Amino acid sequence: MEDVKGRTAFITGGARGIGLGIARAFANAGVKLAIADIDSDSLAAARSDLGKLIAVETFNLDVRDREAYARVADEAEARLGPVSILCNNAGVAAATRFTYEFWDWMLGINLNGVINGIQTFLPRMIERGGGHIVNTASGAGLVAEGSSVMYSTSKFAVVGLSESLRRELEPKQIGVTVLCPGPVGTNIVANSRITQPAAQNAEEARTWEAVTEQVTDWLARGVAPDRVGEMVLAAVKANRLYVLTDRVMEKYIEARTKALLDALPPAN
Ligand code: NAI
Repeated sequence: MEDVKGRTAFITGGARGIGLGIARAFANAGVKLAIADIDSDSLAAARSDLGKLIAVETFNLDVRDREAYARVADEAEARLGPVSILCNNAGVAAATRFTYEFWDWMLGINLNGVINGIQTFLPRMIERGGGHIVNTASGAGLVAEGSSVMYSTSKFAVVGLSESLRRELEPKQIGVTVLCPGPVGTNIVANSRITQPAAQNAEEARTWEAVTEQVTDWLARGVAPDRVGEMVLAAVKANRLYVLTDRVMEKYIEARTKALLDALPPAN
């Protein structure tokens, strides 16, 4: 999709962090924006900021809510025209607690949220004969090193979904990109608390606080969200599958690939 100017993008989790970085890069390239998020104050701030550059509509949407998703999609298209770029970016991160409630929360947003975006917009793109889908996974979707079990589970699934979806959609002129960032300077761990199941006791709450502080400090030394946005824009234009934002995972990707190759049975 070389020519993005005048198109409309729908970006989930677009009010803050990486989603806002993607929104800004798109706005600078003349792409109209439908920004969906669960945080009303951030949505209002994004609208007043990016509204100076381009037409922006904001929607309070939890990506887990399928019916609301369809309604919001209709509204966005009525106001901004057909959505031809979908960014399934909303996500949460946390240390794992092994309960069904936690699995449902993490997979509900990080994986089902992506699926809900695809189910909502893909039929429209197919009918119109083209488009582009960007799914935000993570370096934690390429190697399990240093990530929580549930987060990695959700992100590996998004990588697999994206790789197979790309093959499936190639003949339909719909591109697929999977964004696999390393550390990016956002407040994802603190922001995830909005919907995260409550801590079970004071000790768990203290551990979570400490982890939040550590991870947020580490992410702050990473790539800036606006830079990631520019990388995503370039990948959409060139229809590239993978976007990796740094080389942090290099040795782990090499080690995993080697372990897989080593596990192959001997050639006859
Ligand atoms: P962020 O917290 O700054 O942005 C995520 C946005 O998604 C927030 O505005 C939040 O309100 C929204 N959101 C959360 N749950 C939602 C829901 N159920 N429905 C709609 N919106 C919801 O976090 P960040 O870092 O920008 O994360 C964006 C994506 O990037 C996530 O999928 C995350 O897993 C991924 N990622 C982030 C990395 C990082 O280092 N920050 C690294 C690798 C991947």
